[in-house]
Amino acid sequence: MNGDTAASPATLQDDARSGGRPDSTSVLVATDLRKNFGAVAALAGASLHLRRGEVMALMGDNGAGKSTLVKSIAGVVVPDSGEILINGEPRRFAGPGDALRAGIETVYQDLALVDSMSASENVFLGREPVKAGPLGRLFKLVDRRRMADDAGQALAGIGAKIPSLADSVSAMSGGQRQALAVARAMLWGKNIVMLDEPTAALGVQESEGVLEIISALKSQDVSVLMISHNLEHVFKVADRVTVMRQGRTVGERHIRDVVANDIVGLITGGSEVS
Ligand SMILES: Nc1ncnc2c1ncn2[C@@H]1O[C@H](COP(=O)(O)OP(=O)(O)OP(=O)(O)O)[C@@H](O)[C@H]1O
Ligand SMILES: [Mg+2]
Repeated sequence: MNGDTAASPATLQDDARSGGRPDSTSVLVATDLRKNFGAVAALAGASLHLRRGEVMALMGDNGAGKSTLVKSIAGVVVPDSGEILINGEPRRFAGPGDALRAGIETVYQDLALVDSMSASENVFLGREPVKAGPLGRLFKLVDRRRMADDAGQALAGIGAKIPSLADSVSAMSGGQRQALAVARAMLWGKNIVMLDEPTAALGVQESEGVLEIISALKSQDVSVLMISHNLEHVFKVADRVTVMRQGRTVGERHIRDVVANDIVGLITGGSEVS
């Protein structure tokens, strides 16, 4: 199984069982990303190919580099080397704002909510709607009713129960915070939505809600990258899976071509010896 474990970007060219070569349907092509944090090689040849309107699962053991890859695409981490193409164009995001403007929305593993703000403020965060009319525009009056309505709708969409959208999020449970972050991504993600373990803190019902949202985004032609350790969720919603090990992409498969054990083999490296 040497082809699966190559450290080179050849993974993307190995198209017999993968998503094939990048073409006009590719919204994101990350090739051979590398990132060191001091002596730690968080990324050591990470590649990813995401097509328009597909759900890609990103799997790998703890510390494999999944979050660092997502952060590199989101402009939070600047890779030491490698290439990122968005809709075929080479991009180097200098910060998260650049990625947001390119329609790339991210739910981070640590969620990145502002504790002192309310739930609906967190959903908007820098994108607050201004009231209609000349006065609203002149004084940049924030349209709080619209914020509450839109945030409420997004949360209802995932079946999340948030006691009050006006309260600060500091007192919210882990699951409520996660639901809020997913609602924000769903509302704003127009091109690519990346979700770093979006169901980790959620109950069964809320997890189902998030999986439904992922399917809904896909049906709107949004591309979704979902980091997950949950094979059941991956088999339920993903079209393809990319597996990382020790900072490298070690395989990319169509979900229809694999069973759980194949993925586990890639994650652990077991497929090399079997
Ligand atoms: N800012 C940082 N400074 C130093 N080391 C880091 C930093 N970010 C990540 N690392 C290291 O890089 C490696 C990859 O981390 P990363 O968070 O990307 O893994 P992961 O695949 O998301 O793991 P998990 O499944 O546990 O979330 C780890 O060894 C981690 O300790
Ligand atoms: Mg992580």
